[in-house]
Amino acid sequence: MAFDEKIEHYMLTYPHAEEPPRSIIKTPAQIEGIRKAGEINSMVLDSVAEMIGEGVSTQEIDDLVAKRTANLGGICACLGYQGYPKNVCTSIDDVVCHGIPDPKRILQSGDIVNVDCTTIVDGFYGDASRMFLIGEVSEEKKKLVQVTKECLDEAVGIAKPWTTLGDFGYAINKRAKENGYSVVVEIGGHGVGVEFHEEPWVPHIGEPGTGMLLVPGMTITIEPMINTGTWEIDTDMKTGWAHKTLDGGLSCQYE
Ligand code: MF3
Ligand code: CO
Ligand code: CO
Repeated sequence: MAFDEKIEHYMLTYPHAEEPPRSIIKTPAQIEGIRKAGEINSMVLDSVAEMIGEGVSTQEIDDLVAKRTANLGGICACLGYQGYPKNVCTSIDDVVCHGIPDPKRILQSGDIVNVDCTTIVDGFYGDASRMFLIGEVSEEKKKLVQVTKECLDEAVGIAKPWTTLGDFGYAINKRAKENGYSVVVEIGGHGVGVEFHEEPWVPHIGEPGTGMLLVPGMTITIEPMINTGTWEIDTDMKTGWAHKTLDGGLSCQYE
């Protein structure tokens, strides 16, 4: 009752906010399971960090993720998800997200790579991604990576109960724009935990006090994709998976 009243109170405070469906609010036991999946998922990414570098193919990253995940008792959520053919996503330079690992794509000095990993543990989902800088990377790329990390960290700092999704979307977009960058709008974060992708959809732009009200027990990803040029993206029609920047500019993401 107190919880419902509090939601009612904040819905009056933010008349343009959206009320969260009660079905997405997790129990403490579910949160514990989701936290564990997130921790194991991070351990997989730690292993990627140890092996990634110049001369490594993106397929080798995929192989490592498959092996490490299995050793930790997890399942790679990406493999077979809506027909996705690999265990992990590896998105380089102008690839915004969902780059498919490829034995022919050998990492070169100067590449910036996002590795996006999702692990199922005891039925719960953890989903995170990191950027890796290969060899000697240009100042332009270093700055994009730095600002994108700042966008995520700032959003995570703001995302608290009784605020709204628009609050941190606004902050992400503001910081990106201040640096001359744009925010991808067609792809967003998402609820996560019991399923891979749950409600709500999480935009990385917004206005304070709008979008879904955040309440205790919600589990979401924040995964801003920040571009040096246009925010517009283009989908690789051969596979339907990899999204690239429309203008060939650079893109970067942390989740
Ligand atoms: N991990 C991605 C996300 O953050 C989703 C990848 S879907 C896949 O939502 F099928 F490509 F793996
Ligand atoms: Co992800
Ligand atoms: Co995600």
